Amino acid sequence: MFHRCAPRLLSKHHTRTKTIISFRGSCQKMDENARFLASTFEHDGVCYSKDTNRSMIERPDIVNCREDDVFVASYPKSGTTWTIEMVSLVMNGGNVEINTAGHQQERHPMLEAEFKFPLWVCLAVHLLVLLKPILPYAIMELSFIKMLLVLQEIAFESGDGLKQMEKIKPPRLLKSHLPYHAFPSQAIRKKCKIVYVARNPKDTGVSFLHHVSMGRAPMDYKGSWNDFYKLYVNDKVWYGSWFDHVLTWWQHRNDENILFLKYEDMKKDPRGAVKSIADFLDVSLTEDTIDNIVEFCSFKKMKENKAVNFSLLAGDSLKHEFVRKGEVGDWMNFFTVAQNKEYEKIYEERMKGSGLDFEW
Ligand code: A3P
Repeated sequence: MFHRCAPRLLSKHHTRTKTIISFRGSCQKMDENARFLASTFEHDGVCYSKDTNRSMIERPDIVNCREDDVFVASYPKSGTTWTIEMVSLVMNGGNVEINTAGHQQERHPMLEAEFKFPLWVCLAVHLLVLLKPILPYAIMELSFIKMLLVLQEIAFESGDGLKQMEKIKPPRLLKSHLPYHAFPSQAIRKKCKIVYVARNPKDTGVSFLHHVSMGRAPMDYKGSWNDFYKLYVNDKVWYGSWFDHVLTWWQHRNDENILFLKYEDMKKDPRGAVKSIADFLDVSLTEDTIDNIVEFCSFKKMKENKAVNFSLLAGDSLKHEFVRKGEVGDWMNFFTVAQNKEYEKIYEERMKGSGLDFEW
């Protein structure tokens, strides 16, 4: 772990800021946190978004897995999309055309996703899709109509992970943020290959805030970092505690079917990451192909790539881009001194003896 001093951490204002540890304590925008919590449910002590397939979590055996299925698993905002792109290219021998032909959400659906929309939205979207060929372009340009089309993209094309995965030709590459105990039991029993990626919890938390504030379903969070921090430090965000998630998967890092990667290592040595993924999947790649994969998956290229961002949503209508900053250490622009002190203490306690550490 290394520490650098950021202006935000040292600002006079923030040294005076008192971190309120009590989750229900006073909070500038508690309404926003209450609204966030209303978009969640809890199972086995873990908080999930309401757009998560509850039956799958209650019965991890309902997912039909094939022996040749490959998974990328992670706590949200750990570099999952980046890792999926790498794994996907390793699996198809570096054929970038396949990866640009369709959106990643369609190519590699998230198993547990089950976006729910009110009936009127479903009816309006279906009607719109039916009328689309005959409606004048000017009408299609209206932002409300565009919004409905976006909902269609999210909700009907890639909104139901279980249905989506049935449509994909094997060998399938699938995504999940599920904790180990709720992961499809067939995948574990059949020893399907799973690439798990973890990222230091401070940058993960900050990236999480930007994700929920993006202006995209299922939640448009309007709170500040200080508000969101309270949810995060109290494990009240989707998929619950970062520590529980990462440490449980870490315990399985030596299982023959699991490859444990760290975001910070991938940043430092993307080539090494591609090679270890290829070794893990028993794929042999030429040096040129490895170079091409690294290039295609670079931050710059991924930022421009519509097939990994949200195509219809990309651009001005999003408050933050999905492929946003991609840095190690952005947390320093957000954590106050008090928050950092509190978080470091929790980190020390929770990580002690685990053998796992992160650079931040
Ligand atoms: P930031 O919000 O910190 O920028 P996930 O895919 O799990 O949701 O993770 C998203 C995070 O990974 C975002 O972090 C995003 O910018 C970052 N990311 C995406 N592609 C990346 C790449 N090629 N290199 C580095 N970081 C990347």
